[in-house]
Amino acid sequence: MAEELFTARFVKNKMILKLIQLENFRSFKKREFKFSFKTCFLLGPNTAGKTNVLEAIYLLASGKSFRASQDTEMIKYESEFSRVKGKIEKDELEIILTRGEINGKRTNKKLYKINNTPKRLPDFLGSLRAVLFKPEDINLVLGSPSIRRDYLNLILEQLDWQYRTCLSAYNKGLRQRNKVLSKIREGEAKESQLTFWNQLLIKNGQIINQTREIMIIFYNKQFKDTEIIYDKSPITLQRLEKYKQAELALGMTLVGPHRDDFKFLKHKANGRKDLSLYGSRGEQRLAVLYLKLAELKFVIQKTNQKPILLLDDIFSELDKKNRKLVIKIINDYQTIITNTGEEIDKDIKKEIKDSLFIKLNIDN
Ligand SMILES: Nc1ncnc2c1ncn2[C@@H]1O[C@H](COP(=O)(O)OP(=O)(O)OP(=O)(O)O)[C@@H](O)[C@H]1O
Ligand SMILES: [Mg+2]
Repeated sequence: MAEELFTARFVKNKMILKLIQLENFRSFKKREFKFSFKTCFLLGPNTAGKTNVLEAIYLLASGKSFRASQDTEMIKYESEFSRVKGKIEKDELEIILTRGEINGKRTNKKLYKINNTPKRLPDFLGSLRAVLFKPEDINLVLGSPSIRRDYLNLILEQLDWQYRTCLSAYNKGLRQRNKVLSKIREGEAKESQLTFWNQLLIKNGQIINQTREIMIIFYNKQFKDTEIIYDKSPITLQRLEKYKQAELALGMTLVGPHRDDFKFLKHKANGRKDLSLYGSRGEQRLAVLYLKLAELKFVIQKTNQKPILLLDDIFSELDKKNRKLVIKIINDYQTIITNTGEEIDKDIKKEIKDSLFIKLNIDN
């Protein structure tokens, strides 16, 4: 992988996150963190709340959590709401989460604001860009296809509004089409009722497939000896026709981007090997590191801005050579790194130009 791609000196750095304020967010009742362009280390023992801080920052960048399946999980236990504020240059971003009511009054479950003015999600996103790298990302190689689809969606939804609307329409249409399939099987609906849903899924599904394909082609251009193979499930009238009997029997749509997957192949002198099956742990980690670096480049290409890098406890996972690769890159970005324990390894410390240390304790 070519390192010069990531130094990206030509790209402006408009988005320094200066401050983040948390209120009733996860384990934090009220807490403020100041950052600068220096590489920031968040240090503290397990459960101190390090990942919670990264989650809050990523929430401002993407509009959602990278680990909660429900937004309410981020609200501090027994609190009615949660507030995350971030200052980026002159702008103040804010997200408020509630459980649907405060003091017995109904409220929105999620509110986005910029400079105290409510915004719709499409207008909110884009003020802050972040690329996150966490140990669980190894599941992109080892885990189930849905983890890889979620990854594609998470990245593309932030960068491509057409993708977001197509995905939302597709998912709703898919649920409806599956219901119709079940009803046809039960004799409660006619086959002609599928036509509308077929068209809706084909129209939106093809855009989803194409957008994912373009992203994967871009990623592959960044790699040297690793390749991502897109295992696409195209959606066309012919394919829906071909699978119709099976779909009716199962009450389930069997083709389309909701069945997509991708895998990592490594090129060897004697052919290619699938890293999920034959890769060593190190090779799998390296593939994920490359994927993340390609993501970084992808975000820059799409936005012409440098994202902030959020690295959750990754140094313990990488060997010396790969740590060096990461360190080279982080010196050129605003980076926030979590690490357990009091100290950072000397070899990391001396390579980083300018660093800031924030210590967290268990009872914040
Ligand atoms: N909604 C919530 N309300 C209150 N506390 C919460 C909530 N969600 C999570 N926590 C607490 O936050 C803590 C975990 O924080 P976090 O995952 O950020 O820790 P960490 O410092 O990253 O730890 P590790 O080093 O193990 O990764 C846990 O103690 C958990 O109980
Ligand atoms: Mg953590």
